[in-house]
Amino acid sequence: MLNELQKEIIRLKKDKNAIILAHNYQTGDIQEIADFVGDSLGLCIKASEITDSDLVVFCGVDFMAETAYILNPYKKIVLPDREAECPMAHMLPADEIKRAKKKYPDAAVVLYVNTLAEAKAEADILCTSSNAVTVVESLSEDQILFGPDMNLAGYVSRQVNKEIIPIPEGGHCYVHKMFHTGDIAFAKEKYPDAVLLVHPECDQEVQDVADEILSTGGMMQYVAQSDKQTFIIGTEVDLVTGLRRDNPDKIFIPLLSEAICTNMKLHTLEKVKNALLNEEHLVTVDKEIADKARNAVERMLEVS
Ligand code: 13P
Ligand code: SF4
Repeated sequence: MLNELQKEIIRLKKDKNAIILAHNYQTGDIQEIADFVGDSLGLCIKASEITDSDLVVFCGVDFMAETAYILNPYKKIVLPDREAECPMAHMLPADEIKRAKKKYPDAAVVLYVNTLAEAKAEADILCTSSNAVTVVESLSEDQILFGPDMNLAGYVSRQVNKEIIPIPEGGHCYVHKMFHTGDIAFAKEKYPDAVLLVHPECDQEVQDVADEILSTGGMMQYVAQSDKQTFIIGTEVDLVTGLRRDNPDKIFIPLLSEAICTNMKLHTLEKVKNALLNEEHLVTVDKEIADKARNAVERMLEVS
């Protein structure tokens, strides 16, 4: 049952001809009023398909809203809270990529979508956690500059027969860094039959003991198709919210209940309402940068 504020948001959304896109890490109350909830790739695809909405309220972090703008430069894209930034995306400045390109002139540049627009403009192609291997394999180059997540870079390098050079040194997501093998041992002892799903942003020692390494969207799909009953989920806690909603007969255990992306959680229903009413916190990207970055985004969408 929707509450009064949620009903008001749905009314406003209609009046404003708006669409609400939300990442899987948003709280349940926001997921309930969104037109689409998904992983980074799903959100990019959805953003590339927007035709008749005038206003897009993006309940995710800055790089996601920027990507939506890059794909829709003539639409209004708003973040309910402008401070919702992904710290990992800020770890790779465009200058560092330029320096790496000079050092490795034959390498292709593959950037995780978790980067700022200025960095995306330096990439040959983007990737997300659900298509990183496919993207790298689609390239003719055997040497790949890959950033900013060193754990995703490591995951890709173990799947492909190419040289993966991570940039910057130590790029990481503070949420997925919270998981340790001790948490897994504890959860596995309590739930010995559970399937352990972890995100490729987790450290290698965590990936090594997982049953599956998947993006958040990949986890949703895997669980929907599995005949197993219990799952330990090694990613941000609110993925479990969507999993429980879509699979009421299955059991989900967050690997760590403290694994919260506080940046994603800056959005609230009140702020979503404000975004719809006042169209505040418009996200824009300089045209020259957006034009360059669009090539890298579209190239990724073509191979996905
Ligand atoms: P996905 O939802 O694409 O797996 O990404 C996780 C994440 O950390 C996004 O910031
Ligand atoms: Fe960034 Fe990690 Fe939060 Fe995703 S979960 S937005 S990668 S800090």
